Amino acid sequence: MKHIILNNHEGMSDYCANIILDSLNQNPALVLCMASGHTPTRTCELLVEKIQKEKVDTTKMTFIGLDEWVGLPPDNEGSCHYYFQHHLLLPLGLKPTQFHLFDVLSEDLHKECEKMNAVIESKGIDLMIVGIGMNGHIGFNEPGIPFSNKCHVAKLEEITKEVGQKYFSGETKLDKGITIGLQYLMQSKQVILLANGLKKAAVIKEAIKGPVGTAFPASIMQTHSNGLIITCSEAASLVQ
Ligand code: PGA
Repeated sequence: MKHIILNNHEGMSDYCANIILDSLNQNPALVLCMASGHTPTRTCELLVEKIQKEKVDTTKMTFIGLDEWVGLPPDNEGSCHYYFQHHLLLPLGLKPTQFHLFDVLSEDLHKECEKMNAVIESKGIDLMIVGIGMNGHIGFNEPGIPFSNKCHVAKLEEITKEVGQKYFSGETKLDKGITIGLQYLMQSKQVILLANGLKKAAVIKEAIKGPVGTAFPASIMQTHSNGLIITCSEAASLVQ
């Protein structure tokens, strides 16, 4: 695993957008799996700008959404579905056959997990872009969840529910999440974890220097041979 430190959020977003762009240029049939959240938003914006400017072919790529809050309709502005649609899928004009998002309104979430497992097992993931939560989670892989998990439904920790309120305009009941499991992170050809701001300094230190284990899910990055952590200097302030 490598750690790259850029000056600020703009710098790290540009760096990450360029990696995605290069990957897409090298492999138009790229399978990209991404997290939503505040951290990757600028990466998405820059990626869309670059793809449009350079007229990169996106008709063969596949997009997979990393996770979703259980029970939220896709038109809820805080949902991952809404985020992916507005930040990537609509601007890039991806067809419904090109993207896979969890349907959290389904009555059978187990089936939703199996559907996503099947997609990932048939296509593989070339590039996964994730963030890190304040408890070290990746997606909704909360502390204690086995690294061997495939897609699953997770009960969310209090801190995830509290911090998650920032995505919604009004108080929103958050209880469970559905997520791609860490087995598939390990099987992805390349994984990038993004973190910015001083508030992420302690979790970045734990992810990079702490013991590897399920108590701190992001520590799994240490074990990925093609894992890259990209942070701004503030988020790296405790590991420099
Ligand atoms: P954030 O979310 O990018 O909004 O900080 C990260 C996460 O909880 O995974």
